Amino acid sequence: MVTEKDWIKDLIIYQIYPRSFYDSNGDGIGDLPGILSKLDHLTELGVNALWLSPVYRSPNDDNGYDISGYQEIMEEFGTMEDWDRLRDGCKERGIRIIMDLVVNHSSDEHPWFIASKSSRDDPKSDYYIWRDPVDGHEPNNWASCFGGSAWEFVPERGQYYFHYFSKKQPDLNWACPELREEILGMMNWWVDKGVDGFRVDAISYLDKPQDFPDSRLPPRPDGYSFPDCLAGRPGTHAYIREMNRRVFAPRGVLTVGEVSAPTVEELTNYVRTEREEFDMAIPFVPPVVEIDTWSPEKLKSDVWESYSAMPRDGWWARFFSNHDKPRQVSLYGDDGEYWEVSAKLLAIFLHTLPGTPFVYQGEEIGMTNVYLPSIEDYDDPSTRDQYNQYILSGMEPEAALSRARLESRDNARTPMQWDGSENGGFTTGRPWLGVNPNTAEINLESQRSDPHSVYQCYRKLIALRKESGVLSRGDLKFLETGCGELIGLIRSYEGETLLIFHNFSRQEHSIPAALLEGAGEVVISSYDREGGYIGPDLRPYESVVFRI
Ligand code: NOJ
Ligand code: CA
Repeated sequence: MVTEKDWIKDLIIYQIYPRSFYDSNGDGIGDLPGILSKLDHLTELGVNALWLSPVYRSPNDDNGYDISGYQEIMEEFGTMEDWDRLRDGCKERGIRIIMDLVVNHSSDEHPWFIASKSSRDDPKSDYYIWRDPVDGHEPNNWASCFGGSAWEFVPERGQYYFHYFSKKQPDLNWACPELREEILGMMNWWVDKGVDGFRVDAISYLDKPQDFPDSRLPPRPDGYSFPDCLAGRPGTHAYIREMNRRVFAPRGVLTVGEVSAPTVEELTNYVRTEREEFDMAIPFVPPVVEIDTWSPEKLKSDVWESYSAMPRDGWWARFFSNHDKPRQVSLYGDDGEYWEVSAKLLAIFLHTLPGTPFVYQGEEIGMTNVYLPSIEDYDDPSTRDQYNQYILSGMEPEAALSRARLESRDNARTPMQWDGSENGGFTTGRPWLGVNPNTAEINLESQRSDPHSVYQCYRKLIALRKESGVLSRGDLKFLETGCGELIGLIRSYEGETLLIFHNFSRQEHSIPAALLEGAGEVVISSYDREGGYIGPDLRPYESVVFRI
């Protein structure tokens, strides 16, 4: 039976990247006691759910997205008792806890992989994907997401294993029933421990074509091609439905799938209620693609497409940021002259859409991209891969660095800026990744006491959403403003109506008079510091919400 989880519509989800949130013991690495000590920040902001990026045992090849113990805690982050305390702290504050679930792959240091690679006769031999060499080479031409071939040779078995991400992240073999039982059992174990939901990582790739045909896509500069028949196979949807049947549905667990879905139809395949898969989906779009193709027009049409594809029978995750993306104010707004108003505009845009809003740590104070001096200062394996691909394709090192910098996931991973001190109040030691030097100007401490800060704008928006059904339940209609950079929309629900305009540019744009009919009280504006909305000519990055 399909039961609608109405409570997901009232969530505002805050994502924590534990390594970079708050360091409690001065080793330069964020940790669980650090998060626990900062839960009041979440309460003050008003969020009611916490998505924790992976905290499991891991050798940290990909910062915890390479798990070597699914039922253990990473030593640098603390202990299972710390996790229990964090769970209790969240429960006391009415904050639901969502764990990241990384089950497309594990770490190569997981005991399952160590057993599997030891011999073809090991009982765990089939837990991973092994293939014989073809003419002394890799089984096919597929590229790994982090550079080079997606296959790695292991002399003990005389075979290659498949890894879609780094070679320290071997893909688990979902075709193996014993492996599936282990994973489903582990998921139920976490639900028993009190987790309310899972954000399920890289979930579109579970099922592999058993014959692994060569990809027909053009090769990357290193000679390998991204697979053209891996994401969203019917077998993958069947595995997700099995998870739903055996874990999510019976336990009422909230789920957010991170998916690779090039079309809206593919995206909604994961979340339409009748499919019995996930509650919400986070589509993964490579930053390099977004940097080259994003525009306000595209934003509007993407929102409309996903909304109109399932106005009644599904639900949307709304996010601009996460740990895999450049900072939103740098990517879609303006991190220079219009930093504050554009950070507020993006917040107002997102929090007034239908769907569940996600806030990524630091977004609530308008944190920006960082520009680290050399490629060696970057920790993210995908930044280093992008840089290498640019060099291989003939770019000059300086140009390659400035491009890789824009795309880098480390933009989102620099430590949280708690105050204006050198290390941003994140650690008393040496931070694992450089703190953005602009912590002197952009930090929580100064914004808490400033009624017109980006932070206070987020607090207002979150409070508004909790008060009024129109934001969490209302219909959406876009208005024809005659200008691509000026987005107008209407939200309505049970007699309540909001009229909303956003000027996504550095130019003034005028709201057509006919669209302002009935506009009453201004509910929120990105120009509150300047005294608020003054007229139909919207200033650069001005955003205004009227009640009708
Ligand atoms: C998506 C995660 O969000 C990302 O950080 C990670 O590198 C890959 N999946 C592999 O787990
Ligand atoms: Ca620490």
